[in-house]
Amino acid sequence: MTAQLLTTFSSEINSAKLPKHVAVIMDGNGRWAKQRGLPRIEGHRRGANTLKEMLRYCKDLGIETLTAYAFSTENWGRPTGEVNFLMGLFERLLQKELREMEEEDVCINFIGDLSPLPASLQDEMRRSIERTKNNQGVFFNVAINYGSRHEMIKACQAIAEKVQQGELASNEIDESTISQHLYTSSSPDPDLLIRTSGEMRLSNFLLWQLAYSEIYVTDTLWPDFDSEQFDLAIESFQQRDRRFGKVKK
Ligand code: IPE
Ligand code: IPE
Ligand code: MG
Repeated sequence: MTAQLLTTFSSEINSAKLPKHVAVIMDGNGRWAKQRGLPRIEGHRRGANTLKEMLRYCKDLGIETLTAYAFSTENWGRPTGEVNFLMGLFERLLQKELREMEEEDVCINFIGDLSPLPASLQDEMRRSIERTKNNQGVFFNVAINYGSRHEMIKACQAIAEKVQQGELASNEIDESTISQHLYTSSSPDPDLLIRTSGEMRLSNFLLWQLAYSEIYVTDTLWPDFDSEQFDLAIESFQQRDRRFGKVKK
């Protein structure tokens, strides 16, 4: 990270105290579109652009990992047209952005149950994982068909199977056993969770991993979330006193 680059960021940000891992619930695309008399899918289109900008900004700032909630296990309950649009959008984005991700040293991964996704989307996902797997500039996790409860059920099943096979004793199961069986096993827990559009809930996102994350909620709708908004979230994070249940000496 050069000093030259840092001058473009808010002077309020302390580059020595950055969150290592930022998770984001990208919410408010539909309301953004509605406010403008546009169909909801226009909000999703604009939201995709916001994510791209945010990823670049994280990398420039020196944040190691960004995890973005793109589609929840509950989002299948939306109108078919919207679900199909989103699946197509994810696929087109991966096709369009892969070269740039390679050039920008982005390592992409996906969390969630990918098996029910369209086969052509799964192909693009595998291709982008493979082509970026050695990159180290920024780790980018996209949560698609992700639900924390589903993730925990899968983890319990995998652990129970190991106990049944005699590979693990039940009294050996500890926090790290659980963490290692989640989709996020290769990332540290998020330091900061950002949710846009003012909703103060987790909506089944990273329930285990967010145990001690700092939460920042902004009323800004996701398509309007920009680098200045992101700076505000980082500044807020840097003012927090993270006690982890302890008492300051
Ligand atoms: C978030 O925006 C994107 C997805 C859940 C895919 P929404 O589509 O939830 O937007 P609102 O909450 O209806 O405004
Ligand atoms: C959470 O947003 C899921 C994503 C951002 C992908 P939702 O819009 O689905 O959540 P609720 O329905 O407001 O809880
Ligand atoms: Mg929403």
